[in-house]
Amino acid sequence: MSVSEKTIELGVFIPVGNGGWIPSVNSPDIRSTYGYNREVTLLAEELGLDFALSMAKWRGYGGSTRHWDFTLESMTTMAGLAEATSRIGIWATVHTMVFHPAVVAKMSATLDQISGGRFGLNLVAGSNPYDQGQMGLWRDLSHDGRYALAREWITVARRLWTEERVDHSGDFFTLTDCVSNPKPVKPPQVICAGTSDTGFRFTIANCDGCFISGNNPQSLVRTGLRAKQIAAELGRTTKTYGLFTVVPGETDEAARARVDHFNAGVDVEALRRQAGEYATDVRENTMRRRMAQRAERPTAVGDGAVVGSPESIARQLAGLVKDADLDGVTVIVPDFVDDLRTVGERVAPLLAGHGVRTNAAGAAAGVGGPA
Ligand SMILES: Cc1cc2nc3c(=O)[nH]c(=O)nc-3n(C[C@H](O)[C@H](O)[C@H](O)COP(=O)(O)O)c2cc1C
Repeated sequence: MSVSEKTIELGVFIPVGNGGWIPSVNSPDIRSTYGYNREVTLLAEELGLDFALSMAKWRGYGGSTRHWDFTLESMTTMAGLAEATSRIGIWATVHTMVFHPAVVAKMSATLDQISGGRFGLNLVAGSNPYDQGQMGLWRDLSHDGRYALAREWITVARRLWTEERVDHSGDFFTLTDCVSNPKPVKPPQVICAGTSDTGFRFTIANCDGCFISGNNPQSLVRTGLRAKQIAAELGRTTKTYGLFTVVPGETDEAARARVDHFNAGVDVEALRRQAGEYATDVRENTMRRRMAQRAERPTAVGDGAVVGSPESIARQLAGLVKDADLDGVTVIVPDFVDDLRTVGERVAPLLAGHGVRTNAAGAAAGVGGPA
């Protein structure tokens, strides 16, 4: 499927884990400090991006880069960033196995006030047994069971956002005359990063959007279209947000040389450990398959990366947005200051020439600026 004109939301996956997403001794020295993430998010706001989102990760993968051995917690990071910013959407990730829904319902209502209605949630129904298991919070549920838990979780949270008192006796949670005030002015936007059909069915029925990625461009397009197809089958609609690693250079050759340099220093040990941890989840899990594929031929920059001059990146990204019918693009870049500036100031305006509109393009042109 292809459409000729699209307006999308543009966001950044902020680097709350050291090294960002390029596990290489040659990658930029990304510090996962609050100060750096604050700088990145303020820049994203200045560039007219629509949202900043942080992942939830409790444990890293070691190796020569100590990949993600240092990670900030998502909700508290975003609370600080909500106060530091004034316009950009502020999105945090929570594991439904880790946080009780009543705790997140109240945190979200608090963040609704801090951010003035800019707060959103990304739900993860379970991914890596080591990550959440190290503190005894991994639950050995079937894949369907994880989404049954997530369904009960979001049902309880939504009730607490709107009802005065909640009694609930379910398979996973019990609430007795539970009161949660204040209420958010309106319930936060909720997306989910599940990419299996079960994950999509959960997201489409209970959330506002699907957060997707792919090991290569074809798989991302397939996954995006699959989400929309399942939504259509269920008689509903959903938004899809694609996650892309973008590696810009002045020319295609310069950008490719950057990728080669990052790949030359790949931290094979960290990638293998990551795949190994996901492999301990014997249940069906789309991430387990993807990590295993990546570890077979370990590269620091995955095959799904969008690499080239600003013009080539705009052309490739616009093609993927249209082919996958995406509603949003979330970027990862090697350097979250210089490269993010390139995305906002140079790539976003060029996207318009390929029929993909963003608020960032307006901000770069100084016309109207971000909505
Ligand atoms: C774009 C994207 C972002 C994700 N972010 C996180 C995250 O922050 N923390 C985490 O533990 N898992 C994260 N995941 C993993 C997913 O939540 C999920 O476990 C995985 O995609 C497997 O999908 P499934 O549960 O539908 O099989 C992410 C996945 C995707 C595609």
